[in-house]
Order: sequence, then structure tokens, then C-alpha cells
Amino acid sequence: MESAKDSALDWHVARAALEWQLEMGVSEFIGEAPVDRFAVEPPAPKPAAVPQKPARPVMPGKIEEPRVDHVALAKQMAAGAPDLDGLRAALGAFEGCELKKGARNLVFADGNPAARVMVIGEAPGRDEDREGKPFVGRAGQLLDRMFDAIGMGRAATLSKDALYITNVLPWRPPQNRDPNPDEVAMLMPFVQRHVELVAPDVLVLMGNHACQAVLGKRGITRLRGQWEEALGRPVLPMFHPAYLLRNPHAKREAWADLLALQARLRDL
Ligand code: URA
Repeated sequence: MESAKDSALDWHVARAALEWQLEMGVSEFIGEAPVDRFAVEPPAPKPAAVPQKPARPVMPGKIEEPRVDHVALAKQMAAGAPDLDGLRAALGAFEGCELKKGARNLVFADGNPAARVMVIGEAPGRDEDREGKPFVGRAGQLLDRMFDAIGMGRAATLSKDALYITNVLPWRPPQNRDPNPDEVAMLMPFVQRHVELVAPDVLVLMGNHACQAVLGKRGITRLRGQWEEALGRPVLPMFHPAYLLRNPHAKREAWADLLALQARLRDL
């Protein structure tokens, strides 16, 4: 039988373990038992076999880790995707990005692929990671309300009213940190192919990180509402809905941008 002393000891051990986890940056519990995602490789659907070749020749007598050029590999895998299912499978099979190991789900896209408007955000957050869908948390709910105000939404069946939504990164970064340039460089080939396959009339970029990835520039306060051309189509940068939640006074500009989008779609 467990003595009072043992259970007091367990309590202190459990508390010390919890404090250690908080110090290590644990911000939420997602399961009863720990999972070492570096040890467990999820079974990934394999699209076309892609040679993961060393980028440099190995010198005789020298033991070198084969170096993979992840950007080149991403380009090859993305280009080989014949359709959206193929692209999702290619992303699922891409092992170049460490974010995948810490994420629960691949967050590929949501909405109607026949939409005239494709929205590109930054990266999934906790809710998106959990559900495997982009923009489903508080910022996503605001995004839905914003587009609803101009008669558009991800559940619409008619292309003219529909939205298609994705992110630059398909995996949640730890603690929602910003995407780093290497991650963006290796995931952009998938975004480019995604845009090619959906072939929307217009792209809407939500926030600085999407602008940096697609336009190569940031400074959303200056960029928002200014039409640009990228990936072969008109592009409209807008404030990210998460920014609007923190800065409700900026909703006035967001409304002006939505009206500009509506007018542009009428003219195209
Ligand atoms: N923010 C994003 O940029 N994308 C999401 O999917 C959710 C929040």
C-alpha cells in the first residue's frame, strides 16, 4: 500500500517535472503519453520516387554525411505533382523541413479549389495544427467574417463567391515562432505549384510573412491595399486578421481592401 510519505514524494516529483517542462517551453499538453517525433516517422504517402541525392561528391576515404539540397528537392517534388491530391501527397512525403516533426498535422488547404480568390496566410497555429485546416482559430473566424461581408466564403460552391485558403508553411512552428528564411525557401516551391494548380484570378496575401515569401518584401502598413503582380496574377496584400484582432482600429483599412478586391473581381 502507498504510504503518505510516498504520495507526498510523488507530488514533489510531479511538480518538479512540470516545472522543468514549463522551462523547456512546453505550452500545452496534447496526449497522455509522450511521443518522440524524431524517433517515430509517420507513414507518408509516397508520390513519384524522388532521388534524395548528395549535393556534393563524397571524397574517397572521407566519411561525409550526404547533403541534400532541400530547395532543389522541393522544386522537383512540387513540379511532379499533377494535381492537388498529388501536391498534398508530395508535401506529406517531403522530409526536408524539421517543422514536420513537431507538428500534429499537415495543414494543406481549405475551401473551394475552383475559387477565384486564393488567400495565403503565414503558418498554422495551435487550432489549425489540431484540426489540419488553415485559419480555424480566432483569426480564422475573423477572416471568415471579413469575406462574408463581401459575400464570399470558403464553403461557397460558386467560384465567384468562393475562397481557397492556404499558408506559406503547412506545419505549425514551435511556439508559433516566425518562419525562418530556410523554411520559406524550401516550402515556396510547393506554394508556387499550389497557386498554379488552383489558378485563381487573384491572390490575397495575409500579413508580412506571406508578403515576404511571395513578393520578397515586407512592411504591410505600406504594402496593404496596393495591387502587385506575382506568380502570374494580381496580388493584394492585406493586414493579417490576427493583427486586426490586436489592432481593431485597422479594420477600416481592411474594409477598404475588401471593397477594392470586390471591385477588381468585377472588372476582371
Ligand atoms: N494564421 C495564419 O497565418 N494561418 C493560419 O492558418 C492561422 C493563423
